Amino acid sequence: MKREKMEYKLKKALDAHRYAHTLGVEQTAREMARSFGEDEEKAALAGLLHDCAKCMTLTQMLKAAKGAPLDAVMKESKALLHAVAGMYTAEAVYGVTDPEVLGAIRWHTTGRAGMTRLEKIVYLADIIEPGRKMFDRLPALREACRRDLDEAMHMALAMSLDHVAAQGKTLHPDTLAALRDYEPYAGEQTAE
Ligand SMILES: [Fe+2]
Ligand SMILES: [Fe+2]
Repeated sequence: MKREKMEYKLKKALDAHRYAHTLGVEQTAREMARSFGEDEEKAALAGLLHDCAKCMTLTQMLKAAKGAPLDAVMKESKALLHAVAGMYTAEAVYGVTDPEVLGAIRWHTTGRAGMTRLEKIVYLADIIEPGRKMFDRLPALREACRRDLDEAMHMALAMSLDHVAAQGKTLHPDTLAALRDYEPYAGEQTAE
């Protein structure tokens, strides 16, 4: 599918804020891919489409993700489910067939153990894109993203742990597995 057609469809599927965010993630993922020797076009495409299901209702997401094995938490959380629904939507509505691009969309919210380089880039670009509202550790995370993807993944996952803990919730098992996976890469800034 041509880029123009994708843009047209995305604009209709997303609100203005989410659309601007996807362009930011697309650009950031492209730049990160360039500096880490990853495929720029795949990173940009995954960045552009990573939130293509974000503005759906829960019912629409469940319908889009039909056939996918979903745990009980996933089934009730739009925040988690939009990534799975997004993967299926990217394939069915936007004509994406590349399994690496689809994987980067699938894992952009929870992360997982053993992420590919492309998956890490999209996961991180989602958090650090220029339009993101500033938070305490964002500058440090942006720095880490320029330095080392694994260190940056550990930092981002640790932030995610703190964030859900502050809300009295627990991390999704996939995110916990990812956090354990990147523990060896903990940088100085996250060791406090
Ligand atoms: Fe998302
Ligand atoms: Fe996003």
